[in-house]
Amino acid sequence: MTNPMHNPDHILIFRGFRLATLAAPGTILARDEQGKSRFRQPNRPYGLVEDSVLCVRGENIEWILPTGLAVREPLYAGAEIIEGCGRWLTPGLIDCHTHLIYGGNRAEEWEARLRGASYEEIARAGGGILSTMRATRAASEDDLVALAKRRIAPLIREGVTTIEIKSGYGLDLESELKMLRAAHRLAEEVDIHVEPTLLAAHAIPPEFAQAADDYIAYVCKEIIPAASSLCTAVDAFCERIAFSVPQIERVFDAAEAAGLPIKVHAEQLSRTGIAIIAADRGALSVDHIEYLTIEDCKILADSGTVATLLPGAYYYLRETQMPPIETLRADGVPMAVSTDANPGSSPLLSLLTAGNMACVQYGLTPEEALQGMTCHAARALGLEESLGTLEPGKLADLAIWDVETPAEIVYALGYAPCVGSYRGGRKRT
Ligand code: NIG
Ligand code: FE
Repeated sequence: MTNPMHNPDHILIFRGFRLATLAAPGTILARDEQGKSRFRQPNRPYGLVEDSVLCVRGENIEWILPTGLAVREPLYAGAEIIEGCGRWLTPGLIDCHTHLIYGGNRAEEWEARLRGASYEEIARAGGGILSTMRATRAASEDDLVALAKRRIAPLIREGVTTIEIKSGYGLDLESELKMLRAAHRLAEEVDIHVEPTLLAAHAIPPEFAQAADDYIAYVCKEIIPAASSLCTAVDAFCERIAFSVPQIERVFDAAEAAGLPIKVHAEQLSRTGIAIIAADRGALSVDHIEYLTIEDCKILADSGTVATLLPGAYYYLRETQMPPIETLRADGVPMAVSTDANPGSSPLLSLLTAGNMACVQYGLTPEEALQGMTCHAARALGLEESLGTLEPGKLADLAIWDVETPAEIVYALGYAPCVGSYRGGRKRT
């Protein structure tokens, strides 16, 4: 039997599904022989197309049609048919901001925070990110891959098909490269697409204590050039416990010189003004943004930069300052939702829980939460041409849900109604 993995002409027909395409209204979902539009995305919430057929050829979605229109017999010959029986089909979920690779954990620090210590106090005392740096430096690449494999399993079970993973716990050349190599190994060993991001400007390592500018020079001159072939973006942490705006701008300059897109941990604990500077420079995303101002939102809207919401960190840090959701929404800023999975501010290994928190804590609608985990998350990674919606030409990364309505995907906590997923037209086991 031909292995569908290696047959670019293998055809999969998903029949009898209800689709939440997340595609914009008017998107062409099928063309006729002349290339003219045969069916467009109706203007429905979630990009809904009820009772439909989705055809995959090789790795890509070929067309989507309502069942009544899908009478293309030749394509059915030899095709593999998947019966939906009324279940829902969505794009595979995308977790666009994680720190999944690290050594150790910070449960004791969490206990201290529950007794009243603050995240900032712990960081200033040499704990926090630096505590994970020590454990990550001590871990071998094999250890890091093995630990990350265990953490990624629940995300895969939830229908996550793409994940971004940052470095940032190495904080020296060798250890940052080790983390990025571990991200690549993870992608080879687990059935998921990984986007590795360099986050060398995450904290000031002990070798450069009191010399943050020198560390930034080292990041710009040595780490970014050496890591550029192992990562697809450069991130940085702009905060009073991390790096200043001028320091982060030097990191952006170096990233641009290396041809890498930028993103930034911005306005998380205080407003620094880095979000609008990053947006002006065409950043893929600005992330956290609890302290973003109303005026900042307009600049984000004009830039196309994605606002990535990380409600897990808001929850764990017992933050009370909410990102300016209503203004972001009114200004039309795309909002992504992600776990921020990390051992300190957000030990959260469930994207569906992040989606639920975005609804309950931040007031997103379930539709916005789902957009935040699909189409807007794809944009936050610069992958919107190939991922994030169900539409012709995009990769057939799909999740199947045993739910009555798409809102149920983020409705119950601790329950993942995902009953199957595909990556590039291949079923994941
Ligand atoms: O996204 N804000 C900075 N970085 C991470 C936390 C990292 C850590 O605490 O280990 C974040 O919240
Ligand atoms: Fe983060």
